[in-house]
Amino acid sequence: MRIGIVGAGNLGVAIGSRLAERGHHITISFARTPDKVQAAANSIGHDASGGTPREAVQDAEVVVLATPWTVTIETVTELADALAGKVLWDTTNPFAPTMDELLIGTSTSAGEEVAAAVPGATVVKAIAPFAEALTGASVDGPRPTVFVCGDEDEARRTVASLVGDLDADPVDAGPLKLARFTEPAGMLVTNLAYVRGLGAGIALVLHR
Ligand SMILES: NC(=O)c1ccc[n+]([C@@H]2O[C@H](COP(=O)([O-])OP(=O)(O)OC[C@H]3O[C@@H](n4cnc5c(N)ncnc54)[C@H](OP(=O)(O)O)[C@@H]3O)[C@@H](O)[C@H]2O)c1
Repeated sequence: MRIGIVGAGNLGVAIGSRLAERGHHITISFARTPDKVQAAANSIGHDASGGTPREAVQDAEVVVLATPWTVTIETVTELADALAGKVLWDTTNPFAPTMDELLIGTSTSAGEEVAAAVPGATVVKAIAPFAEALTGASVDGPRPTVFVCGDEDEARRTVASLVGDLDADPVDAGPLKLARFTEPAGMLVTNLAYVRGLGAGIALVLHR
């Protein structure tokens, strides 16, 4: 698929690298300098290219949103016309910079706030595993669970398939509103990793 990524940081590059290895065509965007965007594209390799957010979005079948929460709403609002009709895979965590507090949650979610800002897009919330897990050597054990929430079945299936391409285990969690509960779970595992010192080798796994 043609995948546009908005967010040329750790997660954007990690997702882009995994998906490029699986044959997807990546355009990555969004950093403070064009050099950083180009470095991100070079790091992904294969036929990945760098561009502006608008360039990353315009030909994409799926757009991955991997921006810091504090700039997310203004970024998608600026791109709202280009995002119309697209599947927008939201990976953002609405964290305070201290990583011990959600800036919004339980009565709404980052996913729902993104959807409200871009009503023409189909938003699917699926918080990817840690970038370190995506870029590190594969380890034995169960695949990390990624809960997939969105209001359109086909869009949820599309994102679930891409989550599978990350070697994670997609779990269909139903409507976008369920992001109110999956985002706090992301808060928990991130706090355990980076504040409580367990490190980025941990992941949530749904035991069936
Ligand atoms: N990293 C993970 O393992 C992980 C896992 C799951 C979810 N997430 C979520 O994914 C999102 C991205 O995380 P990340 O770790 O990839 O963050 P990151 O490494 O800090 O990357 C953020 C990207 O956004 C760019 N950016 C930030 N502010 C900008 C601005 N004002 N104008 C233009 N570009 C700007 C940064 O560019 P500069 O470098 O030039 O500032 C960078 O390319 C977050 O919401 C995070 O919670 C991350």
